[in-house]
Amino acid sequence: MRHARSARLHERIEQRRRRTPSERIFPIDPWRIVESRFSPDLVPQLESTFATSNGYLGLRGAHEEGAPAHDPGALLNGFHETWPIVYPEDAYGLARTGQTIVNVTDGTVIRLFVEDEPFELASARILRYERSLDMRDGILRREVEWQTPRGQRLVVRSRRLVSLQRRHLAVMRYEVESLDETLHVAVSSELVTHEPLASSADPRAGRGFTGRVLLPGSAEASGTRALLGLHTRSSGLELACGMDHVLEGAPASSVQAEAQEGGSAQVVVMADLEPGTSLALTKFVAYHYDRVGPPGDLVTRANRTLDRALTDGLEVVEQAQRRHVEEFWERSDVQVDGAAALQQAVRFDLFHVMQATHRAEGLGVPAKGLTGRGYEGHYFWDTELFVVPFLIHTDPQLARQVLEFRCGLLDAARRRAREVGHAGALFPWRTINGEEASAYYAAGTAQYHIDADVAYALGWYARVTGDDGLLLEQGANVLVETARLWVDLGFFSEYQDGHFVINGVTGPDEYSTVVDNNAYTNLMARENLRAAVRLVEWLGSEHLERYTRLVSELGLADEEVATWRKAAELMHIPYAEEVGILQDEDFLMRERWPFDDTPVDHYPLLLHYHPLELYRHQVIKQADVVMVTYLVNNKLTREEIRKAFDYYDPLTTGDSTLSACIQSVVASEVDYELAAYEYFLQACSVDLADMHGNTADGIHIASSGGTWLALVAGFAGMRDRDGELRFRPRLPDQWERLRFPLRFQGRTLEVVMTRDRTTYELRDGEAFTIVHEDRELHLEVGQPTAAPFSASS
Ligand code: BGC
Repeated sequence: MRHARSARLHERIEQRRRRTPSERIFPIDPWRIVESRFSPDLVPQLESTFATSNGYLGLRGAHEEGAPAHDPGALLNGFHETWPIVYPEDAYGLARTGQTIVNVTDGTVIRLFVEDEPFELASARILRYERSLDMRDGILRREVEWQTPRGQRLVVRSRRLVSLQRRHLAVMRYEVESLDETLHVAVSSELVTHEPLASSADPRAGRGFTGRVLLPGSAEASGTRALLGLHTRSSGLELACGMDHVLEGAPASSVQAEAQEGGSAQVVVMADLEPGTSLALTKFVAYHYDRVGPPGDLVTRANRTLDRALTDGLEVVEQAQRRHVEEFWERSDVQVDGAAALQQAVRFDLFHVMQATHRAEGLGVPAKGLTGRGYEGHYFWDTELFVVPFLIHTDPQLARQVLEFRCGLLDAARRRAREVGHAGALFPWRTINGEEASAYYAAGTAQYHIDADVAYALGWYARVTGDDGLLLEQGANVLVETARLWVDLGFFSEYQDGHFVINGVTGPDEYSTVVDNNAYTNLMARENLRAAVRLVEWLGSEHLERYTRLVSELGLADEEVATWRKAAELMHIPYAEEVGILQDEDFLMRERWPFDDTPVDHYPLLLHYHPLELYRHQVIKQADVVMVTYLVNNKLTREEIRKAFDYYDPLTTGDSTLSACIQSVVASEVDYELAAYEYFLQACSVDLADMHGNTADGIHIASSGGTWLALVAGFAGMRDRDGELRFRPRLPDQWERLRFPLRFQGRTLEVVMTRDRTTYELRDGEAFTIVHEDRELHLEVGQPTAAPFSASS
């Protein structure tokens, strides 16, 4: 079925597509992202594209030589500086303390001098060049052949990884080979603490600082090793960073190590390279951070990480890297046959989600992972609704860790609820340390829906993994405290026939703020309240000891639970016959945005129009009602979902990258194949094609996770809402096959969709029954079961 969308929307999609000649820059390759010629204009974007990370440590994909560079450096998940938010016009309860991820000491820098002249990519005569990120082994490689102004040719080969096995370690290898004549080379391997950059006018970019953020502590160097200790000015965090080296090839004529307390260190190796010989430096870099503790402790830890890495050597670390990546693909690869460019884009997205989460133990998932400072390293709802779905179906243990981290912020959320005058807990819209860091309350703090998103993800986790442990422990408290927030926030309104209303909140669409009865919020709050009621009933009947503890610790009363039930039952969902579910109470009263008079280059609107101008119109930044029709789709008919899509989709600008993936999922659900496909194209290329023009600030991890949703929840139509696993496969005409593995309640399932059938194979775990279209299929290990494609259901 086709779906009519405005010509303007098409024009905008086309314009985004034209913006970056991505296919020219990245030749199609199913497993690698390749920059086949040096592209100075793409330096900012490629620092994110080629970022390597393990979820704890991230290195921007800057060139080793340190230039040309845009925002080079290293990021540690959660390592942030705090600063007082100053409001020229203050108000009660506004967020007080900003939190910004800090660009820590950069261990990627390795500079090369040949006959005392620096090798600089920007001015070098390059004879051959290739840089590639290999998604099969997690290694970034570069090979450059260049000719010095005096005509001598050299080859520089480098590679880099951030270890997925050892979260504090990164390894680089830098090799220089002389081709024509004997040359004197000096390789300077460095630790550099960059000066902070200034703030940009784009609210989505990272915040800059004036003055130093990292203050010097200790500095030591000897042999081939150097170590630095630094600490932040205000947030009370301490950092240790160290490097050590192994030299191979031509004998070094000198090796000198130095470290300066200001936060820099160098190990300089000199050698004379005869033609055909090379000098290779393997550089191990270690990072540790913590709250300020006993002096020297972190440096000792960095020393130990280096000792161990040197003992084992590069090969061992690289082998482990390959193993981790292979295991990841085994659990998570989605194969798209018949669309090679899309296959590459899909793997790129999944790879970055892996890099953002793999070793994030005890930490959150920043909106940009550790690929850039965009959105200041903050954790948003992106985690629960865009990353967690992928994790629960591919790496349940990791999903649990991520959710445990959020649950661990409950006390801060309780304090925040008190600050803004509520009972229960209010999770911050954006944060690193658990405190609200959003300085713009209308599009920030007012997004109370994050409470329901967290509660929803907890239930989702339990349903899909079959693991009740998280709900039994921290999850129970979170469900109770978030339910309390909703009943305190809303009220039974006489004006709405005694229905429960929630006023003055912002839904996911940030182009309508502080509205009454945002449907997304109310529907999700209803889910939250029902989940809390079910939880209390379940504990009361099956886990009496836990129930008693919950009652005594949280002072839970029966009447309270009765109120949650009643609020859920009587939840007001704004509705109008001609539209179906209304985005909010007054949505239809607003004037429709003049899309036809909006120049195509005025998107995203947030950079070209005053917020009030946006708030006065029917114009949507990102899927809002459409998103909730996906989340609560078991409560709605396909007709209701289609009606919502028909109304809201033409108003949706997709100015947030969290939109296209969800629009694709829902378009699939309502059989708008073309729209589903087009939105999928947008979603999966957000960063590879720099569709939103800000990949330089980091990879959009929520959209990357959303790509998986568009494939699995969209084209394969997977749903699990009622404890059953259901599929409604619709393979895009352009593809031959779609194949993916899926974890479900301790089992591994493989799904293979072709044009005429879908085959389900249980790889391990107990036999069970799934629903294909409306038909039950019983699956047993070793017995693949094929079901025909049926366009009619
Ligand atoms: C979106 C939010 C999202 C944030 C971080 C914003 O543009 O509107 O929904 O959480 O980006 O990704």
